[in-house]
Amino acid sequence: MTFKRKPVVAGNWKMNGLKEEGIELARGVVEGSSDLNCEIIVCPSFPLLHPVSEVLENDVKLGAQDCHFEPGGAYTGDVAVSMLVDANCSHVILGHSERRADHGETDDIVKAKAEAAYAAGLVAIICVGETQEQRDQGLTMATISTQLDASVPNEATAENTIIAYEPVWAIGTGLTATPEDAQDVHDHIRTYLKTSHSYEVTEAMRILYGGSMKPENASDLLAQPDIDGGLIGGAALNADSFLAIAKAASDL
Ligand code: PGA
Repeated sequence: MTFKRKPVVAGNWKMNGLKEEGIELARGVVEGSSDLNCEIIVCPSFPLLHPVSEVLENDVKLGAQDCHFEPGGAYTGDVAVSMLVDANCSHVILGHSERRADHGETDDIVKAKAEAAYAAGLVAIICVGETQEQRDQGLTMATISTQLDASVPNEATAENTIIAYEPVWAIGTGLTATPEDAQDVHDHIRTYLKTSHSYEVTEAMRILYGGSMKPENASDLLAQPDIDGGLIGGAALNADSFLAIAKAASDL
């Protein structure tokens, strides 16, 4: 059986933009997205979720950049999954390397967050990726396997989970994995997930590439058989460049 995976292009706005800028960016994405044949998600910072949700149309979806795994309580500075649902989110990015490095997020925490996301009906975008040091030591595949093992819940399906491969050395640096190198890792991810999840789930699951993806390199990356879209940082802060990547994904 062959599986046709619908491409996904997700914009990770990170800690950028005030309300009016977020609304303008979201409007630009909505306007240019009507005839694109891919799933489009924008992921603004927490304070922008509500205002951005009010201008989303054309099936452009809303994602958050993190959540807590507890349903509520004394967790200063954290945000519960129910709050994300209340803000009209359908997706949440989990285990981004900036969260792992700057906030001590372990694979176990990422998994607990993913389980909380599933319980709330959110799709978890679970990020994995190796550092430059791990890459230099030839530990790319081993690092990815360990992260997948410990951060992807057993209940993960193609409907509730998207995997994002984001080599840490490529994020925000202008360096990009070559399409062939990225494909090797994506193939590894899909193959490795088959050891813990069913063939059907794994074949249908979308695996995104992230790390300096931009209009100039998107088509070559997206042409790879196991690259099903992109998680885009810098290039998602401009509607035209984000839409150019979405168009490349849609043309596949
Ligand atoms: P970048 O970020 O596109 O700016 O490299 C990607 C990400 O961190 O999700």
